[in-house]
Amino acid sequence: MIEQGFLLNKDQLKPIVDGFMHEFQTGLKTPSKGLATMIPSYVTKLPTGEEQGTFLSMDLGGTHLRIAAVELKGQGKTEVRELKKSPSPELKTGEGEVFFDWIADAVQEIIARESLLFNEQQRNGKETISLGVCWSFPVDQTGVASGTVLRMGKGFILKNVEGKDLAELFHAAFRRKNLNVVVTAIVNDTVGTLVAHAYTNPKCRIALIFATGINAAYPEKVRNITKLDDREKYASDAKMLINTEIDIFGSEKYLPLTKFDLQLDKSHSQPKFQLYEKMVSGAYMGELTRLIAMDYIHEGSLFEGKVPKGFDQAWCFPTANMSTLENNDHEGISHIFNHFSVTPTSEDIELLTRICRNVSTRAASLVSVAIISLIEQQQLWNRQEHIIIGINGSTFQYYPHMDSRIRNVLNEWYGTDTTGRIDLEVASEGGSVGGALIAMLAK
Ligand code: GLC
Repeated sequence: MIEQGFLLNKDQLKPIVDGFMHEFQTGLKTPSKGLATMIPSYVTKLPTGEEQGTFLSMDLGGTHLRIAAVELKGQGKTEVRELKKSPSPELKTGEGEVFFDWIADAVQEIIARESLLFNEQQRNGKETISLGVCWSFPVDQTGVASGTVLRMGKGFILKNVEGKDLAELFHAAFRRKNLNVVVTAIVNDTVGTLVAHAYTNPKCRIALIFATGINAAYPEKVRNITKLDDREKYASDAKMLINTEIDIFGSEKYLPLTKFDLQLDKSHSQPKFQLYEKMVSGAYMGELTRLIAMDYIHEGSLFEGKVPKGFDQAWCFPTANMSTLENNDHEGISHIFNHFSVTPTSEDIELLTRICRNVSTRAASLVSVAIISLIEQQQLWNRQEHIIIGINGSTFQYYPHMDSRIRNVLNEWYGTDTTGRIDLEVASEGGSVGGALIAMLAK
């Protein structure tokens, strides 16, 4: 079986868990230079669920920009009115100023559209409106509302942005557009998700994003974050939310990279960056599947050994196709094959589906490594309580059987008793609510 290296058992996952645990330790003590892991958020509170008020938030991910007016209603309830836009490839790779102007325009648009939520003074720019920013990219935080933009990824290669202060980039755009808006909080999407999910379930202790990218956040004891300068300032039992940037964890030394992972990495615009993320997340699984399928075609056992039209183009097979195949969605499946102008036999469909299953099963195993290492780091298993994990992202929510595949790995690792206490909850309110909550908690 060509995709043999994709099936990982407990013994094969152990060195990766150990490696991740080691990276937590080094990341907590090593001051960040450029690309950092274990980034302190400066957020030391989780919400109780009773917070109330209306806040403006902005959430930027790989595919969407969401600007939202978020009403926190108490009792864990929220109402989100959002404006959703997608940046064009030109915007994502152009001049930073143009990009931030585009965001400022969207902010202006929502203030006009949801004008009833703002008072007269705010509408006419006399009173400042606060904005919580949720940023699904690495930022080297320097405070709750400031941080240096690091390498972005997800197709973003903005000019004159890396190394600058994120809040300043926003404020310059707001000034150019005459907007009286100020950034009062900046959070990574994982921290946003942790806070947002804790609003509905205050026991949540791990947030995981499993979407285009992968990443996780958790509360760490401030006394363990030795790279933090003014630790004495905090109470002795204080905790701070950490953006692990687990996406860049791991190295060639212990990640079980196959020749397909190396091939994918080589053809990527940012090679050697986020090797772990490239093995698991929604942006990449489709391409891994395609690369494996190409080997089967060359061997003669798929599509009669003939490459379907366009199938040799890198990135032509999105991860959503894998869901369609694994869901056995007949209409969707014919659509996929029509696109590649090929009439498959039932064996072709079966083989391609098996590749999808193996690629996504490996993703489930490696995502479980992130979960296990975060449970270990906080020693959550030794309390008798439920371990609440809030997971946000399309790959977790919509990829068939992802939840049960992750559970299988946890079962193999911890046994059914402990795994029975691990709750993988869909954190449906991610960045927007998280950004709004932190804007509030920071006030
Ligand atoms: C990428 C980003 C990270 C983000 C994650 C999930 O890995 O580098 O900052 O949290 O995607 O969206």
